[in-house]
Amino acid sequence: MKKAFAMLLSLALLLGAAGAMAESTTITMGTNAGFAPFEYIGDDGEITGFDVELAYLMAQEMGMELVIEDMYFDGLLAALDQGTVDFVMAAMTINDERKEAALFSTPYFNASQAVVVLEDYEGIQTVEDIADKKVATQDGTTGYFMALDTFGCDASNVAAFKASTDCVLELTSGRADCIIIDDSVAQNFLQNFDGLKIVEGLEMPLEEYGIAVKLGNEELLEKINAALQTLVDNGTYDEIYAKYFLAAEETEGAEETAETEEAAG
Ligand code: ARG
Repeated sequence: MKKAFAMLLSLALLLGAAGAMAESTTITMGTNAGFAPFEYIGDDGEITGFDVELAYLMAQEMGMELVIEDMYFDGLLAALDQGTVDFVMAAMTINDERKEAALFSTPYFNASQAVVVLEDYEGIQTVEDIADKKVATQDGTTGYFMALDTFGCDASNVAAFKASTDCVLELTSGRADCIIIDDSVAQNFLQNFDGLKIVEGLEMPLEEYGIAVKLGNEELLEKINAALQTLVDNGTYDEIYAKYFLAAEETEGAEETAETEEAAG
């Protein structure tokens, strides 16, 4: 009887230790998986994308197993602060406000906002034209804040959706005149929905995406930066970049590829 109890006890201890080990070797990423090509639900139902592929490899570099928590974009930094997630990777633009709420990695991607309209729409030629338009954006994003603060739109004219693709419906149904969203995501909309175009020639500030960790967690930040650097140095970053950002353009003709290369370098 005593022996059985001792055996049970050691089994429990063993299981407990295994549990603790499993816990310490996983790392949880918070994202908003409705932002293709950075993070989205793939055909197999799994979350994938440029950020996600990088994140899996970064976790591997750090010797940890990646767990992904999908949530609303505007809740990500709070989740980080509460410790629900260890880091946030969500095509998130580094800016001063967010730097008060989190620590950011070295920038890993350059972006800017793009304005998407219906193909035959000519109502926006310059950024000044945006002020009196009805705008669709994703909640909590730089596009949303730019509509209000930079372009001077009235709040009643700026719709903010939890899901970025709802912006497309708002536009095609005629409830919005334009969408303001990150350029690569705008490109992705054009590839997936007919009858849209991006307004060319608008001056938009450069945005840099960063990976966020909780304030004070310099230790994890250093590991993330080191893992990212390794993937850049060994060419993996470029491979994943090509897969998501060059493959699609090849099918669209040489002209557009040339433009993109110019913009990138
Ligand atoms: N870059 C923009 C921002 O930081 C939009 C990011 C939205 N990302 C997402 N996964 N929904 O505000």
